[in-house]
Amino acid sequence: MTSSSGERMLDVRGLTVRFPTSDGIVQAVSDVSFALSRGETLGIVGESGSGKSVSNLAIMGLLNRARTVISGEVEFKGRDLLTLPPDELRKVRGKEIAMVFQDPFACLHPMYRVGAQIAEAFTAHSDAGKHAAWSRAVELLDHVGIPNAKSRARDYPHQFSGGMRQRAMIAMALVHNPDILICDEPTTALDVTVQAQILELIEDVKREFDIGVILVTHDLGVVAETANSVMVMYAGRVMEYGPAAEIFRHPQHPYAWGLLDSMPTIERRLDALVPIEGSPPSLLAPPSGCPFHPRCPYRFEPCATKLPPLKVPADGAHLDACHLPYDKKVELGAQRAKKVAA
Ligand SMILES: Nc1ncnc2c1ncn2[C@@H]1O[C@H](COP(=O)(O)OP(=O)(O)OP(=O)(O)O)[C@@H](O)[C@H]1O
Ligand SMILES: [Mg+2]
Repeated sequence: MTSSSGERMLDVRGLTVRFPTSDGIVQAVSDVSFALSRGETLGIVGESGSGKSVSNLAIMGLLNRARTVISGEVEFKGRDLLTLPPDELRKVRGKEIAMVFQDPFACLHPMYRVGAQIAEAFTAHSDAGKHAAWSRAVELLDHVGIPNAKSRARDYPHQFSGGMRQRAMIAMALVHNPDILICDEPTTALDVTVQAQILELIEDVKREFDIGVILVTHDLGVVAETANSVMVMYAGRVMEYGPAAEIFRHPQHPYAWGLLDSMPTIERRLDALVPIEGSPPSLLAPPSGCPFHPRCPYRFEPCATKLPPLKVPADGAHLDACHLPYDKKVELGAQRAKKVAA
């Protein structure tokens, strides 16, 4: 084994995804760059339509290449996944990079036993015989906390609860000991207690399998619980990116402030939540300049015309894309913190 925690596994550089449609070109993802190391959980957050899922589908090679214009680089263990031939990409997908989606029902076939579906995922990329594959399925179901895994493996998906189905999907994703697990809204369809259990499971799995996790969610609370680093996306772009502790303690971008102020916490009463006014733009014709400027209470002269670069401001500790001078952000951040505490 050469793997070790902290090893850089994924380097996404300038990822851009466009969908030509009859209405025009949807600019779904624009110039997105981030990295993922072994043992790290990267939380990707942003409102609906911000490009979170499309970014991950592009990484996984799951977008129809004939109907999508993709550019940039997705370097995984020294290879660019965007230029990998389809058969090699298929070997990476599901084996080295696995994905768990929001709705396990949509991913599990209703007519096949849960264990058989996991066993099949195993044989798809290995020479294992039927018996070994079934044993692997049972072992993994047990590992992800399905009680009586040996007999429950024979159940059909509808005999599992929502939380158990999501556990089964995680078991299936782990079948080949992947390096990266991408979880796209893995808990959105679940009730709150089950949500917490599944997040805990993902964290346990990350440690035990020594993998990197990308956790996509619109819920900053989910990210606050588990992520080591956070990337805030809006209108297909990265607004802020850095260590989670930094971003929660010293958020720099007005959009991140907006997300944080609309998130319930123990300190913040529900009636003190401040939703972000307006709604995300259409990506057929995103606003000029900073895409957030039409909704930003702090916009000033350059925001409507100039795209702010993603950079570390002088004295700042992490990347953000906003024209406000750093001193001004510190001042506004302090005012915000006072308001939250009041
Ligand atoms: N196949 C497609 N053709 C055209 N537009 C698309 C396609 N897939 C996604 N889009 C658009 O790309 C943008 C980004 O979508 P994406 O699904 O990545 O958002 P998201 O951040 O995952 O949102 P959510 O939180 O709702 O899951 C949206 O405007 C969406 O409508
Ligand atoms: Mg999505």
